Amino acid sequence: MSPLPTSLQHGVPSTLPKGAPPVRHYLQFADFSREETTYILERAAFIKQKFKTFVRHHPLVDRTLAMIFEKASTRTRVSFEAGMYQLGGSVVHLTTGDSQLGRAEPIEDSAKVISRMTDIVMIRTFEQTKIEAFAAHSRVPVINGLTNEFHPCQILADIFTFIEHRGPIEGKTVAWVGDGNNMANTWLQAAETLGFNLRVSTPRGYEVDAKLASSAHGSCGSSYKTYSDPMEACAGADLVTTDVWTSMGFEAENEVRREAFAAWRVSREMMAVAAPNALFMHCLPAHRGEEVEAEVIDGPQSVVWDEAENRMHVQKALMEYLLLGRQD
Ligand code: CP
Ligand code: NVA
Repeated sequence: MSPLPTSLQHGVPSTLPKGAPPVRHYLQFADFSREETTYILERAAFIKQKFKTFVRHHPLVDRTLAMIFEKASTRTRVSFEAGMYQLGGSVVHLTTGDSQLGRAEPIEDSAKVISRMTDIVMIRTFEQTKIEAFAAHSRVPVINGLTNEFHPCQILADIFTFIEHRGPIEGKTVAWVGDGNNMANTWLQAAETLGFNLRVSTPRGYEVDAKLASSAHGSCGSSYKTYSDPMEACAGADLVTTDVWTSMGFEAENEVRREAFAAWRVSREMMAVAAPNALFMHCLPAHRGEEVEAEVIDGPQSVVWDEAENRMHVQKALMEYLLLGRQD
């Protein structure tokens, strides 16, 4: 029998072409510079335009995306799965319940195995430390599909959607009304990275953790301001945005939160004090009558359906960038 080619004898990854860019991960918004984020947003517009006009774009033929879900999902699953197929690649879907991840196989071991067989990994999990541990032992790029702390793909889509409707976001004002959660933390990083103003209004006890959000770049101080009154936060804002009062994993706090957040429901009054052409966004799933009035989310200022669709377009650009680098 002839020996293995030298390149395979020591476990050299067979999927990384010579001269390939070093492995990068997207674990939080601040992992990318302003320049890289701007490139991805521009590339997403190009890829979206191609897709909408039925022009084939298959840069990831033979590449496989592993999607690992430890929490429920509709948009993240569909957008990553459809997006990867549209780029010419394929997808493996894993959950805690149907893999050894749920039977306590160490995350480091899972990372080593999964990243030998696939080319890029998307993970939705609980603590940020879990995705960081996976990435530290992965040979391939890892993307955060939501953790307790961050949801960077969603904010990428939100900013793309804002730009589509209103042009550059630099210098604009975004009002966050509600929980100081993974979405709020990521807005903080985005404001710092891209240079827009963020106003955050949360009930007492549910504030954003600015230290956590700023860990990558040192300071979010310049771009964000807190408000105890949500009406004040919304006054003159170009975008009003919110999210559920109880995020996944915090369901035991549901009742307490419902009381604490009662004054933080995005209302027609809040939209009325915002800028006349202000947009409304919500990452979805939404609870009408809870964090937002039905008249707002289903009203003329809401762009939530574009926002959901754009997850797919920005993530296609993100996967292409992580695997192939800049294409322009
Ligand atoms: N917005 C979002 O991430 O939706 P899913 O939980 O449905 O993936
Ligand atoms: N903050 C929410 C977002 C859901 C997409 C959660 O973590 O459940």
